[in-house]
Amino acid sequence: MRKQIVAGNWKMNTLLKDGMELAKAVEKMEKDKHSEAIVIIAPPFTHLSKIKELIESVKLGAQNCSSEPSGAFTGEVSPGMLRSAGVEYVIIGHSERRSYFSEGNEVLNKKVKLALSTGLKPIYCCGEVLGERESGQLYDVVRSQLEIGLKDLTLSDMADVVIAYEPVWAIGTGKVATPDQAQEMHSFIRGLLGGMFNAEVARNTSILYGGSCKPSNAAELFAGKDVDGGLIGGASLKADDFIAIVNAI
Ligand code: PGA
Repeated sequence: MRKQIVAGNWKMNTLLKDGMELAKAVEKMEKDKHSEAIVIIAPPFTHLSKIKELIESVKLGAQNCSSEPSGAFTGEVSPGMLRSAGVEYVIIGHSERRSYFSEGNEVLNKKVKLALSTGLKPIYCCGEVLGERESGQLYDVVRSQLEIGLKDLTLSDMADVVIAYEPVWAIGTGKVATPDQAQEMHSFIRGLLGGMFNAEVARNTSILYGGSCKPSNAAELFAGKDVDGGLIGGASLKADDFIAIVNAI
């Protein structure tokens, strides 16, 4: 059975002290949650090792990693460094990385492979921009993000990969995909995984929805049979909203 997951992407928010408070609050509430979902928080790099000491049931994620294992890459953080700070998951290919930092599918594929070989579990993001949806290119865009981003992965690699479908027009805009739009794309992605790998991988891979997910809309989004949870931005910065989303599963 595939896992249900809710991951909080804090982006470039919170100073260390606030981040530590938020992590503590999430950990406390996670203990009383009434859902089986795995709960992940992805704070900024600078907070990771401190926050690792504060959480037990909540899993630790990072928001990005380098495509290189070590060396003269000023400002980069390698998957090995993340592992050594106690990180288990890493978000790769978030639309903000793709658009503001020009990360394309090829370099993201390198990151995914390096993360996996280092023992991290990638949360690989895909999703179309508004123009691509309106011109009917949404399926082609998502197909190439997956075909190139997950190229050369083995069946056993795929056991550690989580997919996040995040329509870019819904991220941080308050404009949420309808439950039908989310389910349609999730079902397409699952079919694609079946073709790229096999039916078991398609069945067992968790596919999360992301984009303006909040306590008031989470339950209907998560009701889709191929929607296995969410990648949450803004609403993950408030522990009670975040846990309300977890409880909506
Ligand atoms: P949002 O962000 O929930 O603030 O729309 C989601 C994301 O970017 O992962």
